[in-house]
Amino acid sequence: MKDRIVLAYSGGLDTSVAIGWIADATGAEVVAVAVDVGQGGEDMETIRQRALGCGAVEAYVADARDEFADEYCMPTLKANALYQGHYPLVSAISRPVIVKHLVKAAREFGGTTVAHGCTGKGNDQVRFEVGIQTLGPDLKCIAPVRDLALTRDKAIAYAEEKHLPIVTTKKNPYSIDQNVWGRAVETGYLEDIWNAPTKDIYDYTATPEFPPAPDEVTITFKEGVPVALDGVAKTPLQVIQELNRRAGAQGVGRIDVVEDRLVGIKSREIYEAPGAMALITAHKHLEDVTIEREHARFKAMVGQRWSELVYDGQWFSPLKRALDVFIEDSQKYVSGDIRMVLHGGSAVVNGRRSDTSLYDFSLATYDTGDTFDQSSAKGFIDLWGMSSKVASGRDQRVNGG
Ligand code: ARG
Repeated sequence: MKDRIVLAYSGGLDTSVAIGWIADATGAEVVAVAVDVGQGGEDMETIRQRALGCGAVEAYVADARDEFADEYCMPTLKANALYQGHYPLVSAISRPVIVKHLVKAAREFGGTTVAHGCTGKGNDQVRFEVGIQTLGPDLKCIAPVRDLALTRDKAIAYAEEKHLPIVTTKKNPYSIDQNVWGRAVETGYLEDIWNAPTKDIYDYTATPEFPPAPDEVTITFKEGVPVALDGVAKTPLQVIQELNRRAGAQGVGRIDVVEDRLVGIKSREIYEAPGAMALITAHKHLEDVTIEREHARFKAMVGQRWSELVYDGQWFSPLKRALDVFIEDSQKYVSGDIRMVLHGGSAVVNGRRSDTSLYDFSLATYDTGDTFDQSSAKGFIDLWGMSSKVASGRDQRVNGG
């Protein structure tokens, strides 16, 4: 029996050509696996048929949209995860769920090797292969673009020569990856980091300069997870989809950054994540009223470290899982409503209410009803400044002045 290679298949030119390219180079049969993480675009059955038309012996499609929203986007939201303060980990969180389905398909179809379409310069090759090593340590990995010299020009020539059922003429200068959590665009004209992104780059967001009327939305959270919009119950997937539409129409969630890749390269990336950015903003504001101060300060550090681990392909690592436990525990009281106005590129919170709030009106008010004993502040300040005062006295004694 021939060896079988399971290929992460997107339906695009490169992975369509990779089917025959891998078969020619290795003599193995190729099983194509397409995972729906809410990338939109073509329907999955069309993609499945194309894989078969390009020579795959089996083509398997997984609808992972709810799984992705529940088990990957929600932990990212609970962590308020923004890599380097900006990037909501759009591509980084989709790789582990794709890996899960690749390994599952390898088991089902008797695959010994997993293949992906990444180049040798990015983070995604690392995320795929580290994930596969972890979930399927017996499986081998190959990357035809990186390991079997499959360049874009060769892909076009190969597709034409073999009459593959795929359009080769439309030359998109950008490398795009998208899912329900957002969209990432890189390469081409954007590689000059002084060039401003042109309008054609955006798809999830309308231009914020000419917005429609302000859109006020109330997001209800239960233990860190959004469960309703404007009082209507929704699943996490539905919440993200609806906010992608509503915040996207207002141009919310456009991000233009130069980020540090794991492989040591700085790269320019344009992201659009209207739903994700609106949700992270709302969630953070609810945490501000429901999480105790020291807990919140520490959680911010944990969230940052969590983001780095996930960005760096460590989704399945022990440290990442341990931080998940901390973050999950922190969400116990993060329940309530956030009211937010989406308009002209911003998502601005203007109201919050929670049965588990730590906001105490009688402590905060400057009006009647104040229960805070101001006389205790003085002694507190004396002790709080004591160690610095002692050190300053020593400095003056030693250094003069
Ligand atoms: N730089 C981002 C990351 O490493 C996005 C990469 C997505 N790929 C793409 N072809 N744009 O997570």
